[in-house]
Amino acid sequence: MKDLLSAPFMAELIRTATNMYEHGWDERNGGNISVLLDEAEVGEYLDLNRVIRTVPIGFCAPELSGKLFLVTGTGKYFKNVQYDPAKNLGVVRLAQNGTQAELLWGFSDGGRVTSEFPAHMMSHVSRLAVDPKNRVVMHCHPSNLLAMTFVHDLDERAFTRTLWRMCTECMMVFPDGVNVLPWMLCGTNEIGLATAKKMQTARLVVWAQHGIYGAGRDLDETFGLIETAEKAAEVYLKIAHLPIKNTITDAQLHAIEAHFGVTARAGYLE
Ligand code: 13P
Ligand code: ZN
Repeated sequence: MKDLLSAPFMAELIRTATNMYEHGWDERNGGNISVLLDEAEVGEYLDLNRVIRTVPIGFCAPELSGKLFLVTGTGKYFKNVQYDPAKNLGVVRLAQNGTQAELLWGFSDGGRVTSEFPAHMMSHVSRLAVDPKNRVVMHCHPSNLLAMTFVHDLDERAFTRTLWRMCTECMMVFPDGVNVLPWMLCGTNEIGLATAKKMQTARLVVWAQHGIYGAGRDLDETFGLIETAEKAAEVYLKIAHLPIKNTITDAQLHAIEAHFGVTARAGYLE
């Protein structure tokens, strides 16, 4: 068996969590990540028949039964992931028709998967139905997006259009737009279901007065999605209170669509 800490997926997760912390997106235990792993690849590092413990997950995700995830632990600090991955991270397999999580590695202090496991797993189900190559669900608390939910209309079309206009790159990076949930109690199956429903039509879902979820094919892509939306929110907050002299027009957004071969969310452009 090879050393799990040397696995590329492990190195990438550690690097990403550290980077997210350094961006100020994950204060204290804020944020969580889950990555769908390839069973054959994990088998090079772990005995897949050795289950450390099994925990009920409080919901049912039969679509994910047998699937393996690398996931951050509840109450764990992203800033510490790089120093003690085995304590802060776990490899789990969904079992018993997707009602239980079997711990195969990690959470060495007796820890558990993130409290947002319902939103993560349900979002994986939604995104895999749209894109079978989706692997990552990421949640964090970027300040500018969070701040924007206090002062901007939460209508998804309006919210998306504002972000698209803040930087030219936005249309290329998230043409599917940003969905928005009103404030809801976090860490529940209810917010998990609501997030997963929103994930059917966009890879970014803002949780008003809380943070954002992103989904993608790999950690870089998902990080980049959130990074781009957060940058746009930062520009918005810098200009929102100033007299606006120039903007990116809908005609220009259409030109980006045509030139870069992306398709804006239907009905979002004039
Ligand atoms: P966990 O520590 O349970 O992952 O929760 C952090 C968080 O961001 C809750 O929304
Ligand atoms: Zn959170």
